[in-house]
Amino acid sequence: MNLKGATALVTGGSNGIGLAIAKTLIDGGCKVAVTGRDEKRLLTAARSIGASPIHADVAKEADVLRTYKEVLQQFGHLDILINNAGFGVIKPLVEMDLASFEKVFATNVTGAMLMAREAAKHFIERKSGNIVNIGSTAAVRGAAKGTAYYGSKFALRGMTECWRAELRQYNVRVILVNPSEVLTDFYATAGLPQNKENPTKLRGEDIAHAVRAVLEMDDRGFTIETTVFATNPKE
Ligand SMILES: NC(=O)c1ccc[n+]([C@@H]2O[C@H](COP(=O)([O-])OP(=O)(O)OC[C@H]3O[C@@H](n4cnc5c(N)ncnc54)[C@H](OP(=O)(O)O)[C@@H]3O)[C@@H](O)[C@H]2O)c1
Repeated sequence: MNLKGATALVTGGSNGIGLAIAKTLIDGGCKVAVTGRDEKRLLTAARSIGASPIHADVAKEADVLRTYKEVLQQFGHLDILINNAGFGVIKPLVEMDLASFEKVFATNVTGAMLMAREAAKHFIERKSGNIVNIGSTAAVRGAAKGTAYYGSKFALRGMTECWRAELRQYNVRVILVNPSEVLTDFYATAGLPQNKENPTKLRGEDIAHAVRAVLEMDDRGFTIETTVFATNPKE
């Protein structure tokens, strides 16, 4: 697709990987709306890259419906959904509390489904569209303490395959992008240590580059899944 003049919606576009993707799409000529729950951070981030802010939580159905209302009012139509909003709780199975588990699934799985559902209605009508789900290497192999987060990303990968099977006939490309470790606030939010200065680890821009590349392929084809590794990461 040609990004020039296209319209995109990036969930969790107020920080980290989502913000980098939004900036890259704007650099490529897209009009972009970004969502997030922390309004102050959202407004600052959107202003910094020239995106339209939409204060919304993907886990709340009313917010999702309002998000599409606002996007379509502003842009007239939508070409690209980037389902990026997500976070992790990393705990052993025997310590997993129901509230944490359900919170992770509410954003990473239910939220992604609600966002994709509304995009799909629009894309089916237009017989065109792109859904890029930001998965993880946690979507392709399990690990200790991964019940909630890895489980949610496996679910996202499964939904990606279902949506692809349903939507190809309407020329809708459904793509999964799996980052390995990226230097963002994700680790801090999950209560995990991460050296943000490590030059050998991936940056949000690297994932944004991969997303732009898969989108820019001619519409006759698409990369169904792509995984991004750091070349030689050192702790
Ligand atoms: N960093 C990594 O190593 C890594 C690796 C693989 C995959 N990923 C995936 O990449 C995606 C982005 O993560 P990141 O590393 O960029 O983390 P981040 O820097 O913490 O950014 C997460 C973004 O998602 C938003 N968000 C979280 N929950 C939301 C909700 N319910 N509704 C709307 N927005 C929400 C956050 O804003 P608010 O909190 O203000 O809502 C923020 O803008 C996630 O899906 C994550 O699982 C990250």
